[in-house]
Amino acid sequence: MQKIRKAVIPAAGYGTRFLPATKATPKEMLPIVDKPTIQYIVEEALASGIEEILVVSGHGKRAIEDHFDSAPALEAELEKKGKLELLHEVQETADINIHYIRQRYMRGLGDAILCAKSFIGDEPFAVLLGDDVVYNPQKPALRQLIDIYDWTGGSVLGCQNVSEEKVSSYGIVAGEKTDNARLMRVLDMVEKPAREDAPSRLAVLGRYIIRPEIFSILATTKPGKGGEIQLTDALKVLAGREPVYAYDFEGERYDVGDKLGFLRATVEFALRRDDLGGAFRDYLKGLVTRI
Ligand code: G1P
Repeated sequence: MQKIRKAVIPAAGYGTRFLPATKATPKEMLPIVDKPTIQYIVEEALASGIEEILVVSGHGKRAIEDHFDSAPALEAELEKKGKLELLHEVQETADINIHYIRQRYMRGLGDAILCAKSFIGDEPFAVLLGDDVVYNPQKPALRQLIDIYDWTGGSVLGCQNVSEEKVSSYGIVAGEKTDNARLMRVLDMVEKPAREDAPSRLAVLGRYIIRPEIFSILATTKPGKGGEIQLTDALKVLAGREPVYAYDFEGERYDVGDKLGFLRATVEFALRRDDLGGAFRDYLKGLVTRI
């Protein structure tokens, strides 16, 4: 069985939901407290055992490359001022094995993944979407999926149940139960179905382990929902040919592509911080009694 070593992070989208903030700044660089959202994603990949990361970027995304690069002038300044902890943090982000490729036209998530074909080659790989940040200090969501892959050998989609009003925002799967209560074998998938057409409430939430057979399928996948080449459509074809699994992963997941979800993430990550949590909790308590 081949080990999961590589991960793809699609990051080419315009981020229109966060305009005007995203006019000149990639949405992936918007910070939750003091760390860009994409860094949470990269850290989850590394903590899950990923060795090499490909960011599929696009126009106006250069800040992502600068963020994961060395910053000699800044590092010298931090060293001179004795701010060694910050220096260490800044240097750490430059040590990660990250590659970049540009998606030239916004043809959808399926097309973004197809851009990774030559980087991935003929091995199973991980995909992490930047709009989904998952908090699980015991076992990262991606690691949970890798463990399922190591056990089953099939592609694995990270899923959780969403409310009925939310099914039309996600890829929704339907399947049959297995011996593991959290694991289903995928029989059907629909990208962003209307509420009445949704086969279940189990949504794919931005984490995937995919076998390389997906590339030949993606190459012939026609535009689907929204006129875009959908990864969901290609995965449905794959599921018709070989076992594909949906795993109900454990962890608190934040939809940071949505304004309310982003605010929730900001508040909850701040509350969990040793250096901020206490004071921030007191502030929130005071705020609630004031208004
Ligand atoms: C994408 C996928 C969708 C998935 C979602 C998870 O949609 O197409 O299947 O459920 O990510 O966040 P997007 O939110 O990028 O439109």
